[in-house]
Amino acid sequence: KTEVISVDKNVDEEKYYAQAVEILRSGDVVAFPTETVYGLGADATNSEAVSKIFEAKGRPADNPLIVHVGSKEAALTHVQEVSAKALQCMDAFWPGALTLIMQEKPGTFAGNVTANLDTVGIRVPNHPVALKLLQELQLPLAAPSANTSGKPSPTLAEHVYHDMNGKIPLILDGGATEIGIESTVLDMTCEPPIILRPGKVSKEQIEQVIGMVRSASQNKTNAPKSPGMKYMHYAPSAPLYLIENEAGLIEKAIEYVQKKGKRVAVISESEYPTADYNFPLSTESLYASLRKCDSTDADLILASVESGMQQNDALMNRLEKAADHKWFS
Ligand code: TXA
Ligand code: MG
Repeated sequence: KTEVISVDKNVDEEKYYAQAVEILRSGDVVAFPTETVYGLGADATNSEAVSKIFEAKGRPADNPLIVHVGSKEAALTHVQEVSAKALQCMDAFWPGALTLIMQEKPGTFAGNVTANLDTVGIRVPNHPVALKLLQELQLPLAAPSANTSGKPSPTLAEHVYHDMNGKIPLILDGGATEIGIESTVLDMTCEPPIILRPGKVSKEQIEQVIGMVRSASQNKTNAPKSPGMKYMHYAPSAPLYLIENEAGLIEKAIEYVQKKGKRVAVISESEYPTADYNFPLSTESLYASLRKCDSTDADLILASVESGMQQNDALMNRLEKAADHKWFS
């Protein structure tokens, strides 16, 4: 059975961290909140501890993990050949939702953290619980999202509990995560740097600091540089279709599906009275809504894409993956 400790209103209470630190130092895993999504952490220098992350998540071994550290200074002890642009990004966005891919100092992390690549993804999370944990632990913390592989990332401790109960010893419950989708992943080992995964920190924000960067999607000719990209589904159980929100199209789709005797859940910025279920759609609520769809008997899910949403790279990226690029027609 998995223990859940609520640190929500007691962020600095020492005793809550002592147990987590003891578990992590003994080579086991702990789930903890960050400002993006909940992470499942292990000592990044201990390969046996790290293998427990892969086991609990059912994650393919060739998908490397992000390493979390408490400060820029701590990050710099683990990497080499750090570019001036990487340093500028650290100063501008850390602590925050930007993961930087850099050259690892050989032998720093357990091989399974980086899937034996010579690069590593590092970030300083901007969450009081994550920062306090890192400060007490004084070790780099390898942590992917704390969901079962392929499922939507957890934005609440109860999502972690749902996926991980009985598989991990401890969850630190820090309430709902603020951002709701995973960090932006920026590869600093090439020029210009490449956004491997869009997130809350936008291309425009990064370009204001270091000039031109590319997006992985503009780079289709190359094999995916981020091994995880080919695995990400964020998928609910029922089939999810994207649908453009225009001129009664959604109402018609609901009617069409219901005439076949099927139940429809709609995730949208507005409510559809004829739908069997309605859940909200925003960056912050997407994953929770996908999980709520899973707890209904809906046979089909429609995600309403508003025209303004098309500009939100990060949200569209997660929606298209969750829907496996299916549009309702
Ligand atoms: O917001 C987040 O980033 C959350 C929280 C917990 O920090 N973590 C997270 O980790 O989303 P994960 O493991 O689910 O996603 C890591 C992504 C994957 O797409 C992986 O392939 C990529 O980062 N990645 C990690 N190390 C890499 C490397 N050395 N080179 C290229 N891509 C890498
Ligand atoms: Mg993940």
